[in-house]
Amino acid sequence: MSVHQNVKKVTTHVLSAMKLKGEKITMLTAYDYSMARILDNAGIEVILVGDSASNVMAGYETTLPVTLNEMINYASAVVRGVKRALVVVDLPFGSYQGNSREALASAIRIMKETGAAAIKVEGGSEISESVTRILSAGIPVMGHLGLTPQSINKFGTYAVRAQDGAEAQKLMEDAVLLEKLGCFAVVLEKIPAALAGEVSGKLKIPAISIGAGRHADGQVLVLHDMLGLNNEFSPRFLRRYLNLYSEITGAVQQYIHDVRTGDFPSEKEQY
Ligand code: KIV
Repeated sequence: MSVHQNVKKVTTHVLSAMKLKGEKITMLTAYDYSMARILDNAGIEVILVGDSASNVMAGYETTLPVTLNEMINYASAVVRGVKRALVVVDLPFGSYQGNSREALASAIRIMKETGAAAIKVEGGSEISESVTRILSAGIPVMGHLGLTPQSINKFGTYAVRAQDGAEAQKLMEDAVLLEKLGCFAVVLEKIPAALAGEVSGKLKIPAISIGAGRHADGQVLVLHDMLGLNNEFSPRFLRRYLNLYSEITGAVQQYIHDVRTGDFPSEKEQY
C-alpha cells in the first residue's frame, strides 16, 4: 500500500517517505475552516496557509501587506478544520527577514497560537540565520525559492525566474543550503521544469512545484486559482478545475430572482 493511503496523520516524515517511494505530494492553500475541512477530507497531504491570503482574501495587489496577526487568524481557523493534513503557515513579509530573534519570535507565535505543524519562509542564504534559529527551537521549516513574491519589488515582474546560468546556480546552492540547515521541504515557484528536476534529483527533501513543472516531488496551487474563483489570473502553469466565479454568480443571480419574484421561500421552506 502506498505511504499516503496508510497514514492517519501527515507529518514531515511522511513527506520524506513519499519522496523515497516516488509518490507525488499534493498541496493546496487554504485560509479558512470550511475550505480546509473539505481539502482535508478529500485527502490532500499538505495545506499551506499562504501569504497569498493577502491577495485572495484581503484584496491587496501583493503579498506584502498581510500581517502576522492576520496570518495567525487565518491559520487557526484552518487548523480547526483539519485532522489529517500537515498544516504549514507562511511567515509574512517583515516578520523574519531582518533579524533571527524576531524570526524565531514570529515562528513561535504561529506555532503557539494556531496549532500548525510547520512554517514556510522565502529565500536562501540571505535568511539562513533566521532559518537556523527557527529550526533550533524544533519548528519544522519549509523553504521557498525561485519566484518569491515577497521580493516582487526587487524583481519588478512575476516572470519566470532562474532562466540564466548564474541565477539557476544560486538557486541550486540555496536549495542545497536549505536542506543542509534542516528544512523538511522546499517550494520551487515559476522556474524552468528542467531546473526543478535537477533540484529534486539533488535533494533528499521533497521539492514542491508551483509553475516549476512535472519533475518535482509534488505540486501546490493557490486554491482560489484552481477553483476558478478568480477569472483575471491565468498564468500558463495554472489548471482550473472549476469555474466557481461563474457558478457562484449564477447561484446568486438565481437567489436574487427567487426572492424578488416571491418564489423563495416556498410554503415548505417556512415554519
Ligand atoms: O502564499 C502562497 O500561496 C504560496 C504558494 C504560491 C506556494 O507561497
